[in-house]
Amino acid sequence: MSAIAKEAQTIANSQAVATEKTRPFFSIRNMHAYYGESYIVQGVSLDVRKGEILALLGRNGAGKTSTLRAIARTDNPQLRQGEIWLEDQPIHQMKSYQAARAGIQLVPEDRRIISGLTVEENIMLAKVAPGNGWGLDQIYQSFPRLAERRKQESVTLSGGEQQMLAIARALARDLKLLLLDEPYEGLAPVIVQEIERILHSIKPLGITTIIVEQNAVAALKLADRAVILDTGEVAFAGTAKEVLDNTELRREYLAI
Ligand SMILES: Nc1ncnc2c1ncn2[C@@H]1O[C@H](COP(=O)(O)OP(=O)(O)OP(=O)(O)O)[C@@H](O)[C@H]1O
Ligand SMILES: [Mg+2]
Repeated sequence: MSAIAKEAQTIANSQAVATEKTRPFFSIRNMHAYYGESYIVQGVSLDVRKGEILALLGRNGAGKTSTLRAIARTDNPQLRQGEIWLEDQPIHQMKSYQAARAGIQLVPEDRRIISGLTVEENIMLAKVAPGNGWGLDQIYQSFPRLAERRKQESVTLSGGEQQMLAIARALARDLKLLLLDEPYEGLAPVIVQEIERILHSIKPLGITTIIVEQNAVAALKLADRAVILDTGEVAFAGTAKEVLDNTELRREYLAI
């Protein structure tokens, strides 16, 4: 049994004896966020259970990136109303660095890799943050491509490898909620599959993921549940399968 599988087993056992909590693992209640006076996130509420993958979908400009940024407590958009809870922690009262310490890691579309550093230096820099993130061994075991390229400057990586490095950096921190903005953009199907495998493998560890993706079909196949945004409001919330099976919903909001 691999180290990761063992850890997953331990966590699964401890969860089995834990009592059910009333509040979901992660929840947003009536979130309103603004860029200056532009009212963008207009009363979003959603729940995610521990270890679930939620696909956050919707047309261009629907407010997906803004919602992720508001959860990560970036300064823009500004959160003016609503509550964000991760377990018993009031994220809505935090600054972005505090939200990151609480276990919320945002991987933005540009992946924010530090180009002058090697793969390993990028990972080690993420590890400087306090908390119990994955060690290098565990990361290289899950990301063999990064192990092969550990001494390479990260600027020489392919888009897919950079995405893997961005996810590895999040895992090197104390990761509870992973927020991915368009992780598959520009990647070949074989690389998308590799990232899907990794996202699937961290679920039993209790890591929860919200994935925003233009490739809605891929996201829905990976996800347990889905929320569709339309002009900053929740137009649909349900299982991923419900969206895949609903032609009207797909056509109206996802153009698939
Ligand atoms: N920095 C900003 N200042 C002002 N308005 C912004 C800013 N960023 C985004 N917006 C506006 O907020 C709305 C939602 O944008 P957002 O980027 O959240 O959408 P999205 O669903 O991620 O779209 P896409 O699929 O194109 O990435 C859009 O109308 C956009 O023009
Ligand atoms: Mg976006």
